[in-house]
Amino acid sequence: MSLRIGLIGAGIMGADHARVFAEEVPGTALQVICDADRKRARAAADSTGALDVTDDPLAVVNSSKVDAVVIAAPDPFHAPLALACIAAGKPVLCEKPLSQDVAKCLAVLAAEEKCGRRLVQVGFMRRFDPSYMEIRSLLVRGDLGKALVFHCFHRNVSPAYDFRAEMAICNSAPHEFDVARWMLDSEIRTVSVCRPRAGGDTAPVLMMLETEAGQLVNVEVNISASYGYDVRGELVGEKGTAVLRAPVHADINLGLKQINTYPADWRPRFVEAYARQNRAWVKSVNTGNPNHGASAWDGYCSTAVAAAGVEALHSGKPAKVELTAKPPFYA
Ligand SMILES: NC(=O)c1ccc[n+]([C@@H]2O[C@H](COP(=O)([O-])OP(=O)(O)OC[C@H]3O[C@@H](n4cnc5c(N)ncnc54)[C@H](O)[C@@H]3O)[C@@H](O)[C@H]2O)c1
Repeated sequence: MSLRIGLIGAGIMGADHARVFAEEVPGTALQVICDADRKRARAAADSTGALDVTDDPLAVVNSSKVDAVVIAAPDPFHAPLALACIAAGKPVLCEKPLSQDVAKCLAVLAAEEKCGRRLVQVGFMRRFDPSYMEIRSLLVRGDLGKALVFHCFHRNVSPAYDFRAEMAICNSAPHEFDVARWMLDSEIRTVSVCRPRAGGDTAPVLMMLETEAGQLVNVEVNISASYGYDVRGELVGEKGTAVLRAPVHADINLGLKQINTYPADWRPRFVEAYARQNRAWVKSVNTGNPNHGASAWDGYCSTAVAAAGVEALHSGKPAKVELTAKPPFYA
Protein backbone atom coordinates (compact mmCIF):
# COMPACT_ATOMS: atom_id res chain seq x y z
CA MET A 1 0.00 0.00 0.00
CA SER A 2 1.38 3.40 -0.95
CA LEU A 3 1.37 6.26 1.57
CA ARG A 4 -1.22 8.72 0.24
CA ILE A 5 0.10 12.26 0.48
CA GLY A 6 -1.79 15.54 0.52
CA LEU A 7 0.39 18.51 -0.43
CA ILE A 8 -0.64 22.04 0.58
CA GLY A 9 1.02 24.86 -1.35
CA ALA A 10 2.23 24.38 -4.93
CA GLY A 11 4.58 27.33 -5.34
CA ILE A 12 8.35 26.94 -5.84
CA MET A 13 8.85 24.69 -2.82
CA GLY A 14 5.56 22.79 -3.02
CA ALA A 15 6.00 22.00 -6.72
CA ASP A 16 9.47 20.72 -5.90
CA HIS A 17 8.13 18.50 -3.11
CA ALA A 18 5.61 17.10 -5.60
CA ARG A 19 8.45 16.33 -8.04
CA VAL A 20 10.53 14.72 -5.27
CA PHE A 21 7.67 12.42 -4.21
CA ALA A 22 6.85 11.51 -7.81
CA GLU A 23 10.45 10.84 -8.87
CA GLU A 24 12.46 10.02 -5.77
CA VAL A 25 10.27 8.48 -3.07
CA PRO A 26 8.98 4.99 -3.80
CA GLY A 27 5.91 3.80 -1.90
CA THR A 28 4.07 7.13 -2.05
CA ALA A 29 1.12 8.40 -4.06
CA LEU A 30 0.32 12.07 -4.48
CA GLN A 31 -3.35 11.93 -3.60
CA VAL A 32 -4.15 15.62 -3.78
CA ILE A 33 -2.36 18.92 -4.38
CA CYS A 34 -3.85 22.08 -2.90
CA ASP A 35 -3.09 25.69 -3.69
CA ALA A 36 -5.02 28.89 -3.10
CA ASP A 37 -4.36 29.39 -6.82
CA ARG A 38 -6.02 26.33 -8.33
CA LYS A 39 -4.09 26.73 -11.60
CA ARG A 40 -0.82 26.19 -9.73
CA ALA A 41 -2.21 23.08 -8.07
CA ARG A 42 -3.33 21.82 -11.49
CA ALA A 43 0.07 22.50 -13.08
CA ALA A 44 1.91 20.64 -10.29
CA ALA A 45 -0.58 17.75 -10.50
CA ASP A 46 -0.25 17.49 -14.27
CA SER A 47 3.53 17.30 -14.11
CA THR A 48 3.62 14.71 -11.31
CA GLY A 49 0.52 12.55 -11.87
CA ALA A 50 -1.21 13.64 -8.66
CA LEU A 51 -4.75 12.33 -8.55
CA ASP A 52 -6.72 15.37 -7.47
CA VAL A 53 -6.50 19.14 -6.87
CA THR A 54 -8.26 21.54 -4.53
CA ASP A 55 -7.98 25.05 -3.11
CA ASP A 56 -9.17 24.03 0.37
CA PRO A 57 -6.28 23.09 2.72
CA LEU A 58 -8.54 21.78 5.49
CA ALA A 59 -10.26 19.44 3.03
CA VAL A 60 -6.79 17.94 2.39
CA VAL A 61 -6.03 17.51 6.09
CA ASN A 62 -9.42 15.93 6.81
CA SER A 63 -9.71 13.77 3.70
CA SER A 64 -10.10 10.04 4.43
CA LYS A 65 -7.98 9.43 1.30
CA VAL A 66 -4.97 11.30 2.74
CA ASP A 67 -2.61 9.46 5.14
CA ALA A 68 0.00 12.19 5.62
CA VAL A 69 0.34 15.88 4.79
CA VAL A 70 3.10 18.14 3.47
CA ILE A 71 2.75 21.88 4.16
CA ALA A 72 4.51 24.19 1.70
CA ALA A 73 2.18 27.17 1.92
CA PRO A 74 3.62 30.53 3.15
CA ASP A 75 4.93 30.80 6.71
CA PRO A 76 1.77 32.17 8.43
CA PHE A 77 -0.18 29.03 7.46
CA HIS A 78 2.32 26.53 8.87
CA ALA A 79 1.27 26.47 12.54
CA PRO A 80 -2.52 26.54 11.97
CA LEU A 81 -2.28 23.74 9.41
CA ALA A 82 0.12 21.73 11.59
CA LEU A 83 -2.41 22.05 14.43
CA ALA A 84 -5.16 20.83 12.09
CA CYS A 85 -2.99 17.81 11.16
CA ILE A 86 -2.42 16.99 14.83
CA ALA A 87 -6.16 17.28 15.51
CA ALA A 88 -6.77 14.86 12.62
CA GLY A 89 -4.03 12.51 13.91
CA LYS A 90 -2.04 12.84 10.63
CA PRO A 91 1.73 12.95 10.28
CA VAL A 92 2.93 16.20 8.72
CA LEU A 93 6.12 17.37 7.06
CA CYS A 94 5.90 21.12 7.60
CA GLU A 95 8.16 23.52 5.73
CA LYS A 96 10.35 25.78 7.82
CA PRO A 97 9.82 27.82 9.90
CA LEU A 98 7.26 26.03 12.08
CA SER A 99 6.00 29.58 12.66
CA GLN A 100 7.65 32.98 12.82
CA ASP A 101 5.75 33.43 16.11
CA VAL A 102 7.14 31.74 19.23
CA ALA A 103 3.68 31.51 20.87
CA LYS A 104 2.34 29.64 17.85
CA CYS A 105 5.25 27.17 17.99
CA LEU A 106 4.46 26.57 21.66
CA ALA A 107 0.82 25.89 20.75
CA VAL A 108 1.99 23.20 18.31
CA LEU A 109 4.24 21.63 20.98
CA ALA A 110 1.36 21.60 23.48
CA ALA A 111 -1.06 20.04 20.99
CA GLU A 112 1.43 17.37 19.92
CA GLU A 113 2.29 16.45 23.49
CA LYS A 114 -1.41 16.25 24.36
CA CYS A 115 -2.11 13.94 21.44
CA GLY A 116 0.78 11.75 22.63
CA ARG A 117 2.32 11.05 19.20
CA ARG A 118 5.20 12.75 17.42
CA LEU A 119 3.37 13.80 14.25
CA VAL A 120 5.34 16.87 13.15
CA GLN A 121 8.63 16.99 11.24
CA VAL A 122 9.93 20.43 10.19
CA GLY A 123 11.57 20.74 6.77
CA PHE A 124 15.08 21.65 7.89
CA MET A 125 16.52 19.53 5.10
CA ARG A 126 20.16 20.53 5.65
CA ARG A 127 20.28 17.77 8.29
CA PHE A 128 20.02 15.38 5.32
CA ASP A 129 22.58 17.12 3.08
CA PRO A 130 25.58 14.80 2.50
CA SER A 131 28.08 17.59 3.13
CA TYR A 132 26.65 18.70 6.51
CA MET A 133 26.19 15.03 7.45
CA GLU A 134 29.82 14.21 6.74
CA ILE A 135 31.08 17.08 8.87
CA ARG A 136 28.80 16.04 11.71
CA SER A 137 30.12 12.47 11.48
CA LEU A 138 33.69 13.79 11.77
CA LEU A 139 32.70 15.62 14.94
CA VAL A 140 30.84 12.67 16.43
CA ARG A 141 33.86 10.40 15.77
CA GLY A 142 36.09 13.00 17.44
CA ASP A 143 38.33 13.44 14.36
CA LEU A 144 38.21 17.25 14.57
CA GLY A 145 38.44 17.41 18.35
CA LYS A 146 35.98 19.68 20.13
CA ALA A 147 33.97 22.02 17.89
CA LEU A 148 34.89 25.65 18.51
CA VAL A 149 33.52 27.85 15.72
CA PHE A 150 31.03 27.34 12.88
CA HIS A 151 31.14 29.86 10.02
CA CYS A 152 27.93 30.00 7.98
CA PHE A 153 27.13 31.95 4.81
CA HIS A 154 23.66 31.96 3.26
CA ARG A 155 23.38 33.95 0.04
CA ASN A 156 20.42 34.43 -2.27
CA VAL A 157 20.52 36.11 -5.67
CA SER A 158 17.86 38.70 -4.95
CA PRO A 159 15.24 39.34 -2.28
CA ALA A 160 11.60 38.34 -2.55
CA TYR A 161 9.37 41.43 -2.49
CA ASP A 162 8.95 41.60 1.31
CA PHE A 163 12.42 40.49 2.28
CA ARG A 164 14.26 42.86 4.56
CA ALA A 165 16.49 42.30 7.60
CA GLU A 166 13.72 40.89 9.78
CA MET A 167 12.64 38.39 7.14
CA ALA A 168 16.26 37.40 6.63
CA ILE A 169 16.38 36.56 10.35
CA CYS A 170 12.91 34.99 10.67
CA ASN A 171 12.60 33.13 7.36
CA SER A 172 16.12 32.42 5.98
CA ALA A 173 18.38 32.24 9.02
CA PRO A 174 16.36 29.53 10.85
CA HIS A 175 18.12 27.08 8.49
CA GLU A 176 21.43 28.22 10.02
CA PHE A 177 20.05 28.21 13.57
CA ASP A 178 18.75 24.67 13.22
CA VAL A 179 21.79 23.21 11.52
CA ALA A 180 24.12 24.88 14.05
CA ARG A 181 22.16 23.41 17.00
CA TRP A 182 22.23 20.01 15.30
CA MET A 183 25.89 20.19 14.27
CA LEU A 184 27.17 21.47 17.61
CA ASP A 185 24.71 19.54 19.76
CA SER A 186 24.05 22.56 21.93
CA GLU A 187 21.33 25.17 22.28
CA ILE A 188 22.02 28.76 21.25
CA ARG A 189 22.23 31.08 24.24
CA THR A 190 22.74 34.59 22.86
CA VAL A 191 22.48 36.40 19.52
CA SER A 192 24.18 39.62 18.40
CA VAL A 193 23.25 41.25 15.08
CA CYS A 194 24.82 43.97 12.97
CA ARG A 195 24.66 45.22 9.39
CA PRO A 196 27.11 47.25 7.26
CA ARG A 197 26.25 50.94 7.44
CA ALA A 198 27.32 51.20 3.80
CA GLY A 199 24.46 48.92 2.71
CA GLY A 200 20.81 49.76 2.10
CA ASP A 201 17.59 47.98 2.92
CA THR A 202 18.77 44.63 1.63
CA ALA A 203 22.32 44.72 3.03
CA PRO A 204 23.64 41.48 4.56
CA VAL A 205 22.73 40.67 8.14
CA LEU A 206 25.64 39.43 10.25
CA MET A 207 24.95 37.48 13.40
CA MET A 208 27.13 36.08 16.13
CA LEU A 209 25.58 33.27 18.15
CA GLU A 210 26.98 31.71 21.28
CA THR A 211 25.94 28.22 22.30
CA GLU A 212 25.37 26.87 25.81
CA ALA A 213 28.53 24.79 25.29
CA GLY A 214 30.54 27.96 24.57
CA GLN A 215 30.99 27.59 20.79
CA LEU A 216 30.62 30.55 18.43
CA VAL A 217 28.60 30.56 15.22
CA ASN A 218 28.90 33.45 12.82
CA VAL A 219 26.21 33.81 10.21
CA GLU A 220 26.01 36.00 7.12
CA VAL A 221 22.56 36.10 5.58
CA ASN A 222 22.81 37.98 2.32
CA ILE A 223 19.50 38.17 0.51
CA SER A 224 20.91 40.27 -2.31
CA ALA A 225 24.15 38.55 -3.30
CA SER A 226 23.52 38.90 -7.06
CA TYR A 227 26.05 36.29 -8.25
CA GLY A 228 24.13 33.11 -7.32
CA TYR A 229 22.59 30.98 -4.60
CA ASP A 230 25.48 30.01 -2.39
CA VAL A 231 25.57 28.31 1.01
CA ARG A 232 28.99 27.95 2.58
CA GLY A 233 30.23 26.77 5.92
CA GLU A 234 33.36 25.81 7.78
CA LEU A 235 33.52 24.01 11.07
CA VAL A 236 36.59 24.84 13.12
CA GLY A 237 37.56 22.16 15.60
CA GLU A 238 40.50 21.81 17.97
CA LYS A 239 42.42 19.54 15.57
CA GLY A 240 41.33 20.78 12.15
CA THR A 241 38.53 22.24 10.08
CA ALA A 242 35.97 20.89 7.64
CA VAL A 243 34.44 22.89 4.80
CA LEU A 244 31.04 22.31 3.21
CA ARG A 245 31.05 21.52 -0.51
CA ALA A 246 28.18 22.18 -2.86
CA PRO A 247 27.59 19.39 -5.37
CA VAL A 248 29.82 19.92 -8.42
CA HIS A 249 29.30 17.72 -11.46
CA ALA A 250 31.94 19.12 -13.82
CA ASP A 251 35.00 21.36 -13.72
CA ILE A 252 34.68 23.71 -16.66
CA ASN A 253 37.94 24.91 -18.22
CA LEU A 254 37.33 27.45 -20.93
CA GLY A 255 39.01 30.49 -22.47
CA LEU A 256 42.05 30.44 -20.16
CA LYS A 257 39.74 30.21 -17.12
CA GLN A 258 38.28 27.70 -14.73
CA ILE A 259 34.61 28.50 -14.34
CA ASN A 260 32.42 27.84 -11.30
CA THR A 261 28.70 27.96 -11.83
CA TYR A 262 26.10 28.76 -9.20
CA PRO A 263 22.42 27.83 -9.16
CA ALA A 264 19.78 30.58 -9.19
CA ASP A 265 18.09 29.16 -6.09
CA TRP A 266 18.25 26.47 -3.40
CA ARG A 267 16.77 23.56 -5.35
CA PRO A 268 19.89 22.35 -7.19
CA ARG A 269 22.15 22.94 -4.17
CA PHE A 270 19.98 20.82 -1.88
CA VAL A 271 18.47 18.41 -4.40
CA GLU A 272 19.89 15.39 -2.58
CA ALA A 273 18.93 16.73 0.85
CA TYR A 274 15.26 17.19 -0.11
CA ALA A 275 15.08 13.66 -1.54
CA ARG A 276 16.77 12.10 1.50
CA GLN A 277 14.59 14.13 3.88
CA ASN A 278 11.35 13.10 2.19
CA ARG A 279 12.36 9.42 1.99
CA ALA A 280 13.34 9.47 5.67
CA TRP A 281 10.03 11.13 6.60
CA VAL A 282 8.02 8.50 4.72
CA LYS A 283 10.01 5.73 6.39
CA SER A 284 9.32 7.28 9.81
CA VAL A 285 5.61 7.59 9.06
CA ASN A 286 5.49 3.94 7.97
CA THR A 287 7.55 2.55 10.85
CA GLY A 288 6.71 4.98 13.68
CA ASN A 289 10.45 5.49 14.35
CA PRO A 290 11.66 9.11 14.30
CA ASN A 291 14.60 9.99 12.02
CA HIS A 292 17.26 12.65 12.63
CA GLY A 293 15.05 15.34 11.08
CA ALA A 294 13.81 18.36 13.00
CA SER A 295 10.97 17.85 15.46
CA ALA A 296 8.41 20.47 16.50
CA TRP A 297 10.75 21.17 19.44
CA ASP A 298 13.58 21.95 17.00
CA GLY A 299 11.20 24.16 15.02
CA TYR A 300 10.33 26.05 18.20
CA CYS A 301 14.01 26.49 19.18
CA SER A 302 15.01 27.99 15.83
CA THR A 303 12.08 30.42 16.00
CA ALA A 304 13.09 31.41 19.55
CA VAL A 305 16.60 32.17 18.25
CA ALA A 306 15.09 34.25 15.42
CA ALA A 307 12.99 36.20 17.95
CA ALA A 308 16.15 37.00 19.92
CA GLY A 309 17.82 37.96 16.61
CA VAL A 310 15.07 40.50 15.82
CA GLU A 311 15.38 41.90 19.35
CA ALA A 312 19.17 42.24 18.90
CA LEU A 313 18.69 43.87 15.47
CA HIS A 314 16.54 46.61 16.99
CA SER A 315 18.43 47.11 20.25
CA GLY A 316 21.95 46.83 18.85
CA LYS A 317 22.81 44.69 21.90
CA PRO A 318 23.21 40.93 22.35
CA ALA A 319 19.86 39.26 23.14
CA LYS A 320 19.34 36.17 25.25
CA VAL A 321 17.42 33.26 23.70
CA GLU A 322 14.52 32.45 26.02
CA LEU A 323 13.64 28.75 25.86
CA THR A 324 10.98 26.96 27.83
CA ALA A 325 12.07 23.72 29.57
CA LYS A 326 12.30 20.85 27.06
CA PRO A 327 9.35 18.48 27.61
CA PRO A 328 10.49 14.85 28.18
CA PHE A 329 8.15 14.02 25.27
CA TYR A 330 10.86 15.44 22.94
CA ALA A 331 13.82 13.71 24.61
N1 LIG B 1 13.25 24.13 3.01
C1 LIG B 1 13.67 25.03 2.16
O1 LIG B 1 14.82 25.02 1.74
C2 LIG B 1 12.73 26.09 1.68
C3 LIG B 1 13.06 26.85 0.55
C4 LIG B 1 12.14 27.80 0.11
C5 LIG B 1 10.96 28.00 0.78
N2 LIG B 1 10.69 27.27 1.89
C6 LIG B 1 9.44 27.48 2.62
O2 LIG B 1 8.38 26.95 1.83
C7 LIG B 1 7.23 27.77 1.96
C8 LIG B 1 6.75 28.16 0.57
O3 LIG B 1 7.76 28.90 -0.06
P1 LIG B 1 7.76 29.10 -1.65
O4 LIG B 1 9.08 29.67 -1.98
O5 LIG B 1 7.31 27.86 -2.34
O6 LIG B 1 6.64 30.23 -1.80
P2 LIG B 1 5.69 30.48 -3.06
O7 LIG B 1 5.14 31.85 -2.86
O8 LIG B 1 6.42 30.16 -4.33
O9 LIG B 1 4.52 29.41 -2.90
C9 LIG B 1 3.54 29.47 -1.92
C10 LIG B 1 2.27 28.88 -2.52
O10 LIG B 1 1.30 28.73 -1.50
C11 LIG B 1 0.03 29.12 -2.03
N3 LIG B 1 -0.82 29.47 -0.90
C12 LIG B 1 -0.91 30.64 -0.23
N4 LIG B 1 -1.80 30.51 0.78
C13 LIG B 1 -2.26 29.25 0.75
C14 LIG B 1 -3.19 28.51 1.53
N5 LIG B 1 -3.79 29.05 2.59
N6 LIG B 1 -3.44 27.22 1.20
C15 LIG B 1 -2.84 26.66 0.14
N7 LIG B 1 -1.94 27.31 -0.64
C16 LIG B 1 -1.66 28.58 -0.33
C17 LIG B 1 0.35 30.27 -2.97
O11 LIG B 1 -0.70 30.44 -3.93
C18 LIG B 1 1.65 29.78 -3.60
O12 LIG B 1 1.44 29.00 -4.77
C19 LIG B 1 7.62 28.96 2.82
O13 LIG B 1 7.12 28.77 4.11
C20 LIG B 1 9.13 28.95 2.83
O14 LIG B 1 9.68 29.40 4.06
C21 LIG B 1 11.53 26.31 2.34
